[in-house]
Formats: sequence, C-alpha cells, structure tokens
Amino acid sequence: MIGTAVEGLDVSITGLGCKVPDRVVTNEELSQYVDTTDEWILERTGIRERRIAAPDEALSDLALPACRDALAQAGVEGRDIDLLIVATVTPDMAFPSTAAILADALGASEAAAYDLSAGCTGFMYALAQGYGMLAGGLAKRALVVGGDVLSRILDWEDRSTLVLFGDGAGAVVLEAVPERGFIGFELGADGGGGANLWLPGSGSRLFDEPDKYVKMNGREVFRFATRILVQSAEQLLARCGVSIDEVDLYVPHQANTRIIDHATRKLGVPSERVVINVDRYGNTSSGSIPLALADAAADGRLRPGELVLMTGMGAGLTWGSALMRWSKEGRGRNGRGHRRRGPRGAPDLRARQRRVGARPRAALLPRRRRRPRRHRRPAAGPRGDVAGGARGGARPRDRA
Ligand code: UT7
Repeated sequence: MIGTAVEGLDVSITGLGCKVPDRVVTNEELSQYVDTTDEWILERTGIRERRIAAPDEALSDLALPACRDALAQAGVEGRDIDLLIVATVTPDMAFPSTAAILADALGASEAAAYDLSAGCTGFMYALAQGYGMLAGGLAKRALVVGGDVLSRILDWEDRSTLVLFGDGAGAVVLEAVPERGFIGFELGADGGGGANLWLPGSGSRLFDEPDKYVKMNGREVFRFATRILVQSAEQLLARCGVSIDEVDLYVPHQANTRIIDHATRKLGVPSERVVINVDRYGNTSSGSIPLALADAAADGRLRPGELVLMTGMGAGLTWGSALMRWSKEGRGRNGRGHRRRGPRGAPDLRARQRRVGARPRAALLPRRRRRPRRHRRPAAGPRGDVAGGARGGARPRDRA
C-alpha cells in the first residue's frame, strides 16, 4: 500500500512522549544467563544495554506515562482523544485491549480504542491508520501508541534472540494542523516470510510443538531488513517526489546498527541525519520508532519544519514507511496551556494486573530464572534496580 497525503485534512504529530523501564540490563549481565559476550553483541548488533520491565510492569504501565507526556506536549487531555490505537505484540492481555485500558486510565471516554498487531512495524501501521481516520474526518484527535514488553516472550536461554530486544513504549498525538504534516505512507506485508520471526502456539493455531517464546531465523530477517528498509523508503520518496537529500532526519527501525548502516549507505543518508539509539535500548519492537523520535527531540535534532523519514520492519513479515514534515510546537509544550490531570476514577484493572504481576512467576523473573551457566562471573554488585540508566539518567525519556 502506498499513497500520498494530498486529500483531506493536513494531519501531523503535535505531542510526543515515551517511557522505558528503569532497569538497565547490560551485555555483561546477559552473558551470565546465556553463552554470549559483550564483544559479540556489540560487534554484531551495536547494542550495549537494554531496559527490561519489572515483573509487575505491563505494557500499559509503560504506555500510560508516555501517553500523558504526549498529551501534555500537545496541550490536550485524555477526554479530547476520540481514537486510541496501541501497536503491540505484547498487550497487557489478549483482551480487553491495552488501548481500552489506557483510554479508561486517561479519561478518554469518547475514544474508539483498539490494539493493532504488525510486529515491530506496528507503530507505522498505527500512524497510517490514525492519519487516515483524521484525514477522512472520522476522528478529530488520535493518540497512537507503539510499545512492547518483549522480555516477557523471550526465551531467556536462547542467545540468538535474548540479546537483541528490550522493553519500551512511545506515544504521539495526531491532530489536524494548518500546514502539511504527513506527506505519504508505504506499508506492506509478506506472510510467506512469517515463520522467520514468530511466536508459534500463541493463538488459536495448534502446533505439534507449541512455544510461548519468540523464534527467529536471524539471517533471513537480516536479509529481509536490509532489502526492505531501502526499498520501502525509496518507493515512498519516489511517490512523494522527494529526494533523499531533502530528508532532514532518517528514523529507521532500531533493530541492529549493521542493518541501519546498510540502509543508510544504500539510501545515501549522511550519518549525522540518522537517529540511532539501539545501543541503549536494543530493539524495542513497536516502541522503537517513537523512542527514536523522542531521543532526537531530546537532543534538539527534531525541529519544526524538518522533513522526517521513518521506516519500520518486523514480524509478519511487515514493513512501513512514513514521510512527514515535523509540525510546529504543540500548544502544551513547555507547559503552555496545559494542566496535567491524573488518571480518572479507579484504575481497577491495572491495579489487579499489578497484583497478579507481583506474584513470583518464574517466567517473569528473568534475573532469577537461570543461574550463571557457562560463563559464570562474580556479580560486580546489585544490578537491575538502578533507575535512570548508565547515562542520561535525567533525560526526558526516562521520566515516569
Ligand atoms: O525487528 C526485527 C527483529 N530481528 C532482527 O533484527 C534480527 C536480524 N538479524 C540479525 O540482526 C543478525 O542475524 C543476528 C544479530 C541475529 C545474528 O548475527 P549474524 O551475524 O547473522 O550471526 P549468525 O546468526 O550468522 O551466527 C554467527 C555465529 C553462530 O555460531 P556458529 O554457527 O558460527 O558457530 C551463532 O551460533 O554466532 C553465534 N551466535 C552467538 N554467539 C554469541 C548467535 N547468537 C550469539 C550470541 N552470542 N548472542
């Protein structure tokens, strides 16, 4: 699917927020659970550390503060939202949707709310849907969330997947704006490649050997990623009549620096225009692109009027690109015109979830699940309970 945003209203992102768990897990720590090394992970993926959710932390716990920050930046409140989409493969539970849980907590009682599953590409699909609903006049203001707690569905004994992923969530407010925001989208899926990155046994299909953990053919996904990141971006740029030289900021899915470097080289994007934060967060799936946007904004690299190209790819296999001009500042940025409001009523469901999560379920406790195996090393000290991270602890993205 490819199209330019020439019809209907001009729509853009007017608020952005994100949240990662406090707990930092370094490559060194992972080498205590599986047979890997910091050197291998760094060289093959560019990842130094990732954030891992606490046992009682579900997707909505990460997404809620991200949503609140996005609403605050846009200068609107939950009740102003009439569409809430959560892109994820790790919702709090199969139903009710995490979007409905968030809508309740935010007081978005008028909102249509649903989850969307498109692997790591979910946020791009959700952006396109949000844009379409607003441009078509069906909704006035959307909250689009991308986030995952992939640590819950990783096999903490499988080094080929464990080292790649992290947890995190981001949210954006979409609204009509006076000048063109979104310019075009290109989205696609190739179900034939689905078994290269999948979670067999997680739905209604019965398997002889069901599994509750992510399975991946890393080499195939690597090949797909290097091809599709370039192809999708090139097709979209051509359709929109925009040259890569005009793009101010390139925000690729944060899967792996080798994949990003390849795409960047092929597309001809100068490295200073590329956003990379996979080193600090790993691959956060649907959270990847909004977290990268938030990082760029925090670094002053995402300025109003700039042309932004984003491309995601992931399970499905799916992909999606969006081209947009970053909007003027939202009304609530720097607190102007914004009044922060707590969650409406009693967040009963989330409280109940937290009680369930607080039970000592082995699968939720990766640090205790396995004792050091092949590479047992003395722990340098207590890890995983340090808020803020190894660097940039006070950065906006780490705030609750
Ligand atoms: O959103 C999309 C999500 N998925 C991805 O982005 C994954 C895309 N794929 C990749 O990023 C890469 O394929 C990986 C990083 C997963 C693997 O890198 P690679 O260069 O393709 O390595 P490989 O799979 O060819 O494995 C090379 C070796 C193997 O050992 P042998 O057979 O050569 O003895 C693996 O068993 O590296 C071994 N290996 C590891 N060694 C240490 C695999 N994982 C690890 C590990 N630590 N964590």
